[in-house]
Amino acid sequence: MVLDSLEGTSHAFGPNCLAFQDEFAAWNGNRYAVTTNSGTAALHMGLVACECGCGDEVIVPAYSWSSSATCVMQHNAIPVFVDIDFDTMNIDVGRIEAAITPKTKAIIVVHLNGLPVDMDRVMAIADKHGLRVIEDACQAHGARYKGKKVGTLGHCAAFSFNQNKCLCSGEGGMFVADDEAIYERARTLWSFGEEVGPTERRDYHVYAMGWMYRNNDLTAAWGRAQLRKLDRHLLTLRENVECLSRHLQGVPHLILPTEPAGFEHSWYNYTVRFDMEALGHAHDARRFRDRLIEALQAEGLGTGIWQSFILPAMTVFQAKNAYGHGCPWTCSRSGPVDYSVDSFPVAARHLDTHTGLTYPLRAPNGTDVAELAATAIRKVMENIDQVEACEPVGEAAV
Ligand SMILES: Cc1ncc(COP(=O)(O)O)c(C=O)c1O
Repeated sequence: MVLDSLEGTSHAFGPNCLAFQDEFAAWNGNRYAVTTNSGTAALHMGLVACECGCGDEVIVPAYSWSSSATCVMQHNAIPVFVDIDFDTMNIDVGRIEAAITPKTKAIIVVHLNGLPVDMDRVMAIADKHGLRVIEDACQAHGARYKGKKVGTLGHCAAFSFNQNKCLCSGEGGMFVADDEAIYERARTLWSFGEEVGPTERRDYHVYAMGWMYRNNDLTAAWGRAQLRKLDRHLLTLRENVECLSRHLQGVPHLILPTEPAGFEHSWYNYTVRFDMEALGHAHDARRFRDRLIEALQAEGLGTGIWQSFILPAMTVFQAKNAYGHGCPWTCSRSGPVDYSVDSFPVAARHLDTHTGLTYPLRAPNGTDVAELAATAIRKVMENIDQVEACEPVGEAAV
């Protein structure tokens, strides 16, 4: 399909882009889909579609990919962080209301690792306070909450098709929504601020602030080909995860990921945590985590940390250096926000104790590979005293 596109004459936003949008919308159960050049672009479109602007506050989890939060500043709005729940690794829904102020406009929920957020509770809070909800579904293609696919639960959603994602086209993304006005606003930002789409009769007039977030035909062709295989790949992933979890039952000092009843994980990342309290390493958790990971890697296991920082600890928030001159935080419309790292102890504990698996569990690998992964993990965890006996490896990269 990519070669067909290459041999064709339409390499910018072309027929494969249109078809990809329609096919993805049908697959996910959305009325509208707009294909983008990244998940980050789709997140920024969500912000604008939900009418977040200068000085508006947007609630985001304290642990995620950077652009789950920096997309908020793209339109001069202010991210307000909420700590995560240790068990699910997602935003702690019970802490959201305490973070709401008169300036709050929206909540970004991230279905981290592929586990949906408890959306009934989030939507109840949003309805009560008149807020919009943007789903960051960049890691969660095909995940379901109470039978419904992520991306259909909030007011709009962003998916990523970056190389590591379960649906991959090198780079790329999709914005989805069901409300026409939300879709129209997102589409305007997506294509230079124009209201007329690139395949329609354009007036080349800019009606609002715009970027160039469109996908191209070759990448969309690749995405379409991958979408056809996605259900099969997700099934293989689930079978491999079930096999791994079965074999890891009872392994000492290992906290396995959860999949609560009514939540269907898509297993983008199988993240385990080491029980550092029980291991007596709560004081040097990060360093001991790195030594455990080295030991696992020495067994041939493809595993590693996903993030090195919780979001509020990143320089852009600590230095508030987004647009220079302290903007958007110094804007007269903005209120004070708390980015002190100590305010997010659960995210910090998760960060310091985790490691994850992605590729070992993906198709075409099968349960034989999942069993090998389990054997490696069991061997390391049952011989922890030998890990402790290793020479210090120096401070972990932070
Ligand atoms: C949770 C989350 N949000 C947003 C993104 C951004 O997606 P992209 O890299 O396609 O811009 C990613 C990508 O890793 C992600 O994992």
